[in-house]
Amino acid sequence: MKKAGTILVIGLSLLLLLSFTGQAMGNAKNVKPDIKCKFFGKTPDGQYAYLYSLENSKGMKAEITNYGAIVVSLYAPDRKGKFADIVLGYDNLDDYIKETPYFGCIVGRYGNRIGKGKFSIDGREYTLAVNNGENTLHGGIKGFDKVIWDTTPFQNENEVGLRLTYVSRDGEEGYPGTLTSIVKYSLTNDNELKITYEAYTDKKTVVNLTHHGYFNLAGQGNGDILGHYMMLNADRFTPVDKGLIPTGELRAVKGTDFDFTKPTKIGSRINNKGEQLEFGLGYDHNWVLNRKDNTSLSLAAEVYEESTGRVMTVTTTEPGIQFYSGNFLDGTLVGKKDKVYKHRYAFCLETQHYPDSPNKPNFPTVILEPGQKYDTTTVYKFSTK
Ligand code: GLA
Repeated sequence: MKKAGTILVIGLSLLLLLSFTGQAMGNAKNVKPDIKCKFFGKTPDGQYAYLYSLENSKGMKAEITNYGAIVVSLYAPDRKGKFADIVLGYDNLDDYIKETPYFGCIVGRYGNRIGKGKFSIDGREYTLAVNNGENTLHGGIKGFDKVIWDTTPFQNENEVGLRLTYVSRDGEEGYPGTLTSIVKYSLTNDNELKITYEAYTDKKTVVNLTHHGYFNLAGQGNGDILGHYMMLNADRFTPVDKGLIPTGELRAVKGTDFDFTKPTKIGSRINNKGEQLEFGLGYDHNWVLNRKDNTSLSLAAEVYEESTGRVMTVTTTEPGIQFYSGNFLDGTLVGKKDKVYKHRYAFCLETQHYPDSPNKPNFPTVILEPGQKYDTTTVYKFSTK
């Protein structure tokens, strides 16, 4: 069966490769968009992981594995057109299985924390797997970042992509309902990594899917991110208790170390005294995004790295964004190309509903009901200045 699967995948990728070569002929200026697939490793329970390599017409590349739906690498140009891998990760599957602080994965079924691993729907209490002190973080002990997803590559004239599907059984990690999640990563010819999330359930449940990329616009492993300029389009954030569970307040950022409404160096205030920065060991908070409505893509964040000129612009349909400044990186993890990931060598911008929403009636709802479609989009666009 497994052998047959492998042959099928290789066959399919060859077919794709041939068709793309055909389509791209005659477009001399551009690179020919391309998808390749190779074996990446085997999980302890014998499942196969593959590494898909996507390349758009501008030569931007993404490598994505079906283990955890992880973006293993992402190559973006600097202002001189030189490409560098701008996300942290590992060269091989075994390292991801051994220990990862959610490098590049899709987090689910519920991204971020749920207080004490408990919530109720219609008067029935559900108890989740607890994995972060007394709380549940990023889906529990075995979240969507640690499972094998089904994959289908796709391509059209504007993009190359990978569609990943995972069916989470009723009761998995304590969550009610069979949840089918479909995540589409696409690398567009406008140098965007576009992620669309879809999910369906057969029982009322909670869902909050996000991408946990660790970015360093100077190149992965090339120093800390304290000099990157961060802009967050948010007038408020959700302060937390010492377990990083929101108190329920939406607090104005004006006049605080959390005001990123104008581009500000990440490091300029990160070591200031104050309860919130101390609880987070730096920035590890959810910002409440300013937006026009609940459905269209709106600007969430823009990050700029001066020495390379790289800019990352994040737009999303989500109401919140977790800005995490890599506070737990401490030099013990050695990643791709033997780079040592030291303190604050990357930042994460996880678009999301607010943490602990299942227990916060005043936060936007995260309930998904049978017959409804969970439907969100986030775009990470790369440019230079
Ligand atoms: C999220 C959490 C952080 C941390 C990182 C990964 O950003 O909020 O506390 O768990 O993921 O280490």
